[in-house]
Amino acid sequence: MKTILLQFDTDSRASSFDRVVAVDAGVEELFSYAGINKDNVTGLVHGAIFTRGPAKLNNTAIFVGGSNVGDGETLMKHVQNTFFGPMRVSVMMDSNGCNTTAAAAVVAAKSHLQLNGCSAVVLGGTGPVGQRVAQLLAMEGSDVLLVSRSEERAETACAAIRSKTSTGSLTPAGASTESEFMELCSGRKLVVAAGAAGVCFLTEGSLNSLPDLDVAIDLNAVPPTGLADVGAMDKGKELAGTICYGALGVGGTKMKVHKQAIAGLFESNDRVFDTEEIYALALQVAGLTDK
Ligand SMILES: NC(=O)c1ccc[n+]([C@@H]2O[C@H](COP(=O)([O-])OP(=O)(O)OC[C@H]3O[C@@H](n4cnc5c(N)ncnc54)[C@H](OP(=O)(O)O)[C@@H]3O)[C@@H](O)[C@H]2O)c1
Repeated sequence: MKTILLQFDTDSRASSFDRVVAVDAGVEELFSYAGINKDNVTGLVHGAIFTRGPAKLNNTAIFVGGSNVGDGETLMKHVQNTFFGPMRVSVMMDSNGCNTTAAAAVVAAKSHLQLNGCSAVVLGGTGPVGQRVAQLLAMEGSDVLLVSRSEERAETACAAIRSKTSTGSLTPAGASTESEFMELCSGRKLVVAAGAAGVCFLTEGSLNSLPDLDVAIDLNAVPPTGLADVGAMDKGKELAGTICYGALGVGGTKMKVHKQAIAGLFESNDRVFDTEEIYALALQVAGLTDK
């Protein structure tokens, strides 16, 4: 029986990126649907679960994507709520690459640092990627400073993450100038820049003034990058005593994790790949499961 992936995209055109990765992950038939939301998805889910019989449902799976992460989260919940008893298929959510990117960033940090008790700062921490990075770091036991231009938005994001994990600590901070960002990074071991594309938090030469910083990760590939000292291609490159990863340096792990998660969907009919499950997979991919 052929494997079928139903791609539910919340945008008006289904992502070509997600389609290519599905094919490269070995999916035999890809059914792509665009403009999907909670009000029009139920019939599509019924079509997936009522066709092949429970024993064969591991051959069908659903991928939730699109550029709007909030819409993707709502759709993911609705898809899961439509399942009942054995009438379910495995499902993955990675709107805008949020889960695979955050997971790849945190495993990059973990391959150099003891994350339990690590003092970390997430710049641009209120976005979908930044929030997931902060959540995964807190789950690992880090003390996370979550930075936004608005302290109120930072507090809202911290509260949302605290409702998902009780480990580590989350402290909100508001900052909008480079000197404020520098002050917040000072004395910290890990900085992850997860700001919007083209937003630069720390200009060239900043790492020289952060002697305690062990690892710097910048997820923004669009010039100007988030941490000017970090090259987009950097992957474990050392600069001023700091190990650096750029957006494309993290991207290799992200792609491997994305493909393996798609392949994993067909192992049974009840797999769920969301933030935590994708992180668990990223740890395996990076050979860090025992650490
Ligand atoms: N490498 C990869 O494979 C990959 C995959 C996906 C995404 N990404 C990149 O990861 C980064 C984060 O993605 P995302 O979707 O979470 O980003 P996002 O939602 O577009 O932005 C993240 C945060 O950046 C802050 N921000 C926006 N404009 C700013 C400005 N002018 N100055 C300072 N802060 C500003 C906002 O926080 P406040 O308004 O609260 O300050 C926002 O919540 C992006 O650069 C994206 O391109 C990389």
